[in-house]
Amino acid sequence: METHRREFLRKISGAAVASASVLNTDVGAALSDVSPIAGTESDQSLRNLRAQFPLLNEQVNGHPLVYLDSAATTQRPRAVLDALSGFYLHDNANPSQSLHSLARRCATMYDSARGTVARFVNARKSDEIVWTRGTTEAINLVAASWGGGNLGPGDEVLVTVSDHYSSLVPWQLATQRANATLRVLDVSEDGHLRLDQLDALLSKRTKLVTFPHVSNVLGRINPAKEICERAHRAGALVLVDAAQSVPHFAVDVQDIGCDFLAFSGHKMCGPMGIGALWARWELLDAMPPFQAGSNMAHDVEIESVPSHFAEGGRKFEAGTPNVHGAVGLAAAVNFLNSLDRKTLWAREQQLTQYILSAFKKIKGLRILGPAEPNERISVFSFVVENRQPLEVVGELDTVGIAVRAGDLASLPLLKRLGVTAAVRASCYIYTSTEEIDRLVAGLQGKSRGL
Ligand SMILES: Cc1ncc(COP(=O)(O)O)c(C=O)c1O
Repeated sequence: METHRREFLRKISGAAVASASVLNTDVGAALSDVSPIAGTESDQSLRNLRAQFPLLNEQVNGHPLVYLDSAATTQRPRAVLDALSGFYLHDNANPSQSLHSLARRCATMYDSARGTVARFVNARKSDEIVWTRGTTEAINLVAASWGGGNLGPGDEVLVTVSDHYSSLVPWQLATQRANATLRVLDVSEDGHLRLDQLDALLSKRTKLVTFPHVSNVLGRINPAKEICERAHRAGALVLVDAAQSVPHFAVDVQDIGCDFLAFSGHKMCGPMGIGALWARWELLDAMPPFQAGSNMAHDVEIESVPSHFAEGGRKFEAGTPNVHGAVGLAAAVNFLNSLDRKTLWAREQQLTQYILSAFKKIKGLRILGPAEPNERISVFSFVVENRQPLEVVGELDTVGIAVRAGDLASLPLLKRLGVTAAVRASCYIYTSTEEIDRLVAGLQGKSRGL
């Protein structure tokens, strides 16, 4: 098996290089750093990486855990756990630059975390980052604040049938409130966005286009730069839902050319309850507050509603901020940056090849969406003939394997692909081929001696 795997991975490294162009990343160079057996537990660098995630050592139902639910939330490395406990052990205060030492220290940590996250997506300045609870709140912020001020009767917002509920529902509500129209870009039978239909859907009425940079069901990477260019030509703004892309490869808001970008910390090794909206400064500056309260308003008088608010992201961050979340997310960014993301991405592409090949051995398994390895992350949704998705989750759980099933917050997409529920196995930087072997054995019923 090991010899076979080495041979297989040697053969596919060329394909990984070919598929890299979509990301503008120099994966070819990175591949020279990745051993031909990268992704196996015998790969020392993967062993070292896994050792940094304490939870991966858990036993579940008497078996070593195989965690394949990272698209829902990743596990956290010790560096992030230490940053979080360190904050409460040594630094915690309600932040303020003009008060006592601890408050000033907290304010500095909060500001510095904003800068770290801004650099991570190549924002022009830190003030273009708004802290949110995650992708969902970031999208709701744009729908409520920008949508409230800019959408009116006859206007259109273009979503895609592959949008997550966290994108679809805020825009359904925002267009309903404004008496505007929601238009929908379809996907093909194999899950590619129907970009051939894009221009016909765009018009002077289109005020905003939104799409998932990577589909949480299909794992497919959508061509963000091209969509932005075409939407801008029609005069529309673009919001990129980057919940599933930012964790996997470098995302550069200036290169993509979008207007808004939303992502979550907990899908990239950071804490739950923190994420960010990036928006072009001019847009943020013109948008009204999303929520109101302390920190975004000052010198408030009973007689008049304030008209001046804090600048940039702070205008949208009413109340005591989530400092520990920001500190934890910055620690996650530093952790990912310390790993060389190009190498991680090259390894992920090898893993993707491995899984696609392994899944072919499972009778009755149908992968939803593109079955080719190019232009995708290692997230796989599938159905198995004559087995209910939740049944599959239960069976795998008994042997310590964690996968997700249900409508995956994407029922319109599932219906489009002819199902109403699916199983999803989602990998991350710590996933090994041995874990995939255990998934395959579990799906074939071998782990339970069937
Ligand atoms: C593509 C996509 N968008 C949005 C979300 C919502 O993210 P959160 O629940 O962190 O706000 C998810 C979560 O799975 C997602 O996969």
